[in-house]
Amino acid sequence: MSGTSLSVGLPGVPAVPAAPRTGLSEDPQWFRTAVFYEALLRSFADSDSDGVGDFAGLTSRLDYLAWLGVDAIWVPPFYPSPMRDGGYDISDYTGIDPRYGTVEDFEGMVREAHARGIRVVIDMVLNHTSDAHPWFQASRSDPSGPYGDFYVWSDSDEAYAGTRVIFVDTESSNWTWDEQRGQFFWHRFFSHQPDLNYDNPAVVEAVTDVVRFWARTGVDGFRLDAIPYLVEREGTSSENLPGTHAVVARLAAVLAEEFPGTITIAEANQMPSEVVAYFGTPEAPECTMCFHFPVMPRIFRSLREGSADSIRQVLAETPDIPAHGQWGTFLRNHDELTLEMVTEDERALMYGWYAPEERMRANVGIRRRLAPLLGDSRDELMLAHALLLSLPGSPCLYYGDEIGMGEDIWLEDRDAVRTPMQWDRSRHMGFSSAPQDAALTLPLISAPGWAERNVADALADPGSLLHALRGLLTVRRQHPALGRGSFLMRASSSAAVLAHTRQDLSPDGEVLLCLANVSEEACEAVIGLEDLAGARTGVVLGGPEGSGEDAAVGEDGRLGVTLVPRGYRWLSLSLPVKES
Ligand code: NOJ
Repeated sequence: MSGTSLSVGLPGVPAVPAAPRTGLSEDPQWFRTAVFYEALLRSFADSDSDGVGDFAGLTSRLDYLAWLGVDAIWVPPFYPSPMRDGGYDISDYTGIDPRYGTVEDFEGMVREAHARGIRVVIDMVLNHTSDAHPWFQASRSDPSGPYGDFYVWSDSDEAYAGTRVIFVDTESSNWTWDEQRGQFFWHRFFSHQPDLNYDNPAVVEAVTDVVRFWARTGVDGFRLDAIPYLVEREGTSSENLPGTHAVVARLAAVLAEEFPGTITIAEANQMPSEVVAYFGTPEAPECTMCFHFPVMPRIFRSLREGSADSIRQVLAETPDIPAHGQWGTFLRNHDELTLEMVTEDERALMYGWYAPEERMRANVGIRRRLAPLLGDSRDELMLAHALLLSLPGSPCLYYGDEIGMGEDIWLEDRDAVRTPMQWDRSRHMGFSSAPQDAALTLPLISAPGWAERNVADALADPGSLLHALRGLLTVRRQHPALGRGSFLMRASSSAAVLAHTRQDLSPDGEVLLCLANVSEEACEAVIGLEDLAGARTGVVLGGPEGSGEDAAVGEDGRLGVTLVPRGYRWLSLSLPVKES
């Protein structure tokens, strides 16, 4: 366990300068301007040479994350688990899997993160447990006992027939027969992950206590896994039902009352018109943030189509959200690049562009990493991030994507994108000093060109993707309008050029015009800025190519811009002070 020093590091890794930030900001709205980073604990950094990443390892890398400009880490499940679903199969809600360390290690990580101004969001899997969880063991062996009704049991496998199967690669039904109890149990994911029964008030009480338990450790928030599926009803899709919202609202009320300021992030892979309900209302708030799933595949689509129309459309279909809420955006995470929220035609296009080989696909999606998806093109990677950092919502990065880490489609399921972080060129790429290759939680990337990538080399090269992305994050930090500003899509004469403004509504708040040319051709476009006629422009990011710099929006409210292929630019717009 590290002490309170701000310059901890693993041996053999160049020290990363400590971040100037110390301690947490007082801003209760911190999540609006925050950049999140998903640190897959298991694969991030191994401190005790057992081949599995752990809390002490993560702690040792916090300086790196602070340097990068990360404001909050999201730590996927670390609870005791048979690990048949990457830890999303929990067998003890209030423990820490010994592979990841001790309670002291966890608390030390939270403390050290906070010392660097980094918040900690942990995963909370409420929809289901592992079948190894004592609640399930008791439920199956003693139907009339206190846990008999903790899960969803049925004599038939025909109930809730309108409910889709999510893991189509492995499951053919949401019901599985349990020999011991002599009944079927309900599960939305793997058949070893029985769903909890949220019609039982004792279940709601039990999971509320779990949330309280972890909130007491001082974490800053919870990602609520698979939240749309808590309650099931005959004749419905069993998704987003009123009973589910009632549970989320109750949890939100408990947190607001007992742990004010603790945020929740909904993982609801649904269209925005449905997700918006997970923010609740001002009177009955639910989540602080909700991931915006459907905008993600449209960013990828736009790059291959050379048109930003699909992004424009999905944002036009995105309803306003209550003032307490904020979207969460991402390009990749530990799951497949989900294609659940696209049309069949779009799915076929996406598979054709991004997953030509069968092994690149999983369930309804693509199990690939960001850099290989984008052909390792620096221009596309930068453009995708410039979009991510300027569209409404707080962005979440996925570990390793900042150094353009590769994938291994020969690994099973989503392990293709969960390989050990590549820190340096030492043994096991600095991830672990385990004596045996076989001891590693997953094999390292071995493909030439990808195997060598690592943080230390990227740090040493001022021209690296890592430095370029850090630069983007730095600019974003300097312009809070990108996090908390209002959002307005602007008319663009070119389908390839996405133009939107972000306006900080506080007094003297700035207005930024964000431009992105998603095509491979240079583009000229006329942007409609009628309410900003006569405003002067200044380059905040991008350039110096093309026009726009030191130009002014015409008196007719039109601004002509030129963007290089895959070019992006953020411009500040300031209206001349009116003479009185
Ligand atoms: C969503 C998680 O992101 C995913 O990794 C997991 O497999 C499912 N929930 C089921 O727990």
